[in-house]
Amino acid sequence: MTKFVYQLVCLSLFVSKLWAVTTPAPKVGVGVYFESCCPFSQAFIVDSFAPAYNTPGFTDIASIVMVPYGHEKYNESSHGEYTFTCQHGPNECAGQRIESCVIQLSNSDPTVYIPFIMNLEIKLNAIGCYNATCCDPTPYAELVAQDLQMSWNEINQCVQTSQGDYAVLFQAQLTEDLNPALTA
Ligand SMILES: *[C@@H]1O[C@H](CO)[C@@H](O)[C@H](O)[C@H]1NC(C)=O
Ligand SMILES: *[C@@H]1O[C@H](CO)[C@@H](O)[C@H](O)[C@H]1NC(C)=O
Repeated sequence: MTKFVYQLVCLSLFVSKLWAVTTPAPKVGVGVYFESCCPFSQAFIVDSFAPAYNTPGFTDIASIVMVPYGHEKYNESSHGEYTFTCQHGPNECAGQRIESCVIQLSNSDPTVYIPFIMNLEIKLNAIGCYNATCCDPTPYAELVAQDLQMSWNEINQCVQTSQGDYAVLFQAQLTEDLNPALTA
């Protein structure tokens, strides 16, 4: 079985490793490790991932995870408070925090969180929210949540509290566990 790991941190890139997803039928594992304001990540989601995901039957053959973290960094103060820094600035961290919260609130159910992340990244890309013009994603995230009939209150509650810290740290761990490590 082949595992494709797309390393879409700001130089694009992908590569692979073996990963067996067994039951009930073998599936291809697809890991999308990305940054919310990386234009290459967004372009991949818009041009390749979303069309594939929206093709009937795709999720029958592919087991997908999306991991919003990339080259984000965290730091824990002596008081146990976390701060996060991102390649494309604080708005990128805000986007990744929202997406991490949605993943956590869905209990890591890709059928729930992938449409949210996909639609948010498509919106951000459409308005040029990336690189140095990475914008505050909050209002767009709220619209996407409404479209998908997700509770924005619940998401925002996570984002505004330490629940959000742990949601992000979980994605940090998944990214750190990547072997071979994230490079681009
Ligand atoms: C991390 O936090 C500690 C404690 O507050 C501080 O001394 C250190 O400079 C911080 N490191 C970075 C990289 O910000
Ligand atoms: C974003 O920044 C990267 C790195 O500086 C650059 O290569 C890329 O062309 C930029 N992309 C856009 C769409 O501005």
